Amino acid sequence: MTNDDKLCTIVIFGSSGDLTWRKLVPALYNNHIKGRMPGCKEIVGFARRPFNDATFRQRLQEGVQTFSPESYDQTKWEDFSSKLVYFQGNLDVPEDFKRLGEYLKEREVNPSNRLYYLATAPEHYIPVVNCIGHASLADQGEGWRRIIVEKPFGRDLASARELNKVLHSVFDESQVYRIDHYLGKETAQNVLFFRFANTIFEPIWNRRYVDNIQITVAETVDIEHRGDYYDHVGVVRDMFQNHLLQLLSLVAMEPPASFEADAVRNEVFKLLSSIRPVSLTDTVRAQYEGYQQSEGVAPNSQTPTFAVLRLNIDNWRWKGVPFYLRSGKSLAKKTSQVIVEFQRPPHLMFHLPDEKKFIPNILSLCIQPDEGIHLMFEAKVPDSEEDMQSVDMEFLYNESFSGALPDAYERLLMEALNGDASLFTRSDCIEAAWKLIDSIVNGWETTDTPALALYRRGSWGPTEATALLARDGRLWRLGCVGE
Ligand code: BG6
Repeated sequence: MTNDDKLCTIVIFGSSGDLTWRKLVPALYNNHIKGRMPGCKEIVGFARRPFNDATFRQRLQEGVQTFSPESYDQTKWEDFSSKLVYFQGNLDVPEDFKRLGEYLKEREVNPSNRLYYLATAPEHYIPVVNCIGHASLADQGEGWRRIIVEKPFGRDLASARELNKVLHSVFDESQVYRIDHYLGKETAQNVLFFRFANTIFEPIWNRRYVDNIQITVAETVDIEHRGDYYDHVGVVRDMFQNHLLQLLSLVAMEPPASFEADAVRNEVFKLLSSIRPVSLTDTVRAQYEGYQQSEGVAPNSQTPTFAVLRLNIDNWRWKGVPFYLRSGKSLAKKTSQVIVEFQRPPHLMFHLPDEKKFIPNILSLCIQPDEGIHLMFEAKVPDSEEDMQSVDMEFLYNESFSGALPDAYERLLMEALNGDASLFTRSDCIEAAWKLIDSIVNGWETTDTPALALYRRGSWGPTEATALLARDGRLWRLGCVGE
């Protein structure tokens, strides 16, 4: 019997928390009803709270009913929930992990594979990994052992290195799956298919044809009840270090030699290492009005809830093409999108009333919502002499494909179970991203440059964000449906 034929147990550390309830168990349930997890025998929740199997299942049932109502079905739930069991233990008590090991051995009639999931608060990551090590739960003698690590992966380069060091003292890098849920989104994965499964885009995907690239991840929600966490983190650590840099990597990296995990991640590392250290004058940081009055936030907090970074990639493909990244809370619209703005034609033979208003070709990769791709180009207005108008050539997921797009966690959990790490971040990529982010955050904190701006809730951020592009003679673009 090979390891792949063995049954598998999933162990979720921190299983009484929000992530398990909101994301992991709905995703596991959906994979189960799609028939994708025949080898998964049990899902063991490990946490401190005094649940038993029945109360644990009941709480998770509410989660699936709330967060995946369209697929909830009582009979299917009963079938799935028979796999859910609860083990009460402390996340930093080695003895409890020894007990867990015995408990698992008893339940796994034959030697099984095991997938561990770190769904705890980040301060427990190191203690849990150490306890797994002490109890020899990472040994692969009887089957594979893998661990999924949720973000945040450290809060700076030093803490990320420390976490990598501890992980590598217990697990081999090939056993570690660091999650960035953006990589689990179908639309993010499709960026690679769009670029490398077609011939017509790649020849123009470079400094000769592209004027600039803009990546926006905007949210309408504010920090909600997460003040305690968010005020120590801010938008750059929360969103740029991971999600925005991952999107940037997909858009800008060179074609990997294959779709194998290391081939893809080698290119991500190369790309992240080619980003020039950022000048603070190429950044904007801002806070929405009223943020300092939120629960858990320091009264004079300087934590940014919005930022813009202007990045340069020093390689042959992208030399001279600016990449503008922006993200924030409490903005006008929820949208994640990548805009590729092409250069203007070298010579315009048409007489336009106002040439400055001429809009270049814009390709919009719409990550969410309104998932799709739009290509805007100029067309002659019928029955005019030489008027032109921008028109939209579009692909919409909900028109071309049936069924709702699966949640990112469904795919990521399946990939980890199948041992494919392409959609997970490798330790060197994490460290390269932190190196870049550290220099910005430390620069802001030590020089107070640029000053923290304020913006109105429900706006597109402070005027400084518009000014940064205006300085380069450019505008922010939004090209997905509904804009
Ligand atoms: C998380 C951040 O990683 O991503 C949150 O911690 C943010 O602050 C969320 O709201 C955004 O994810 P999505 O998929 O809704 O864009």
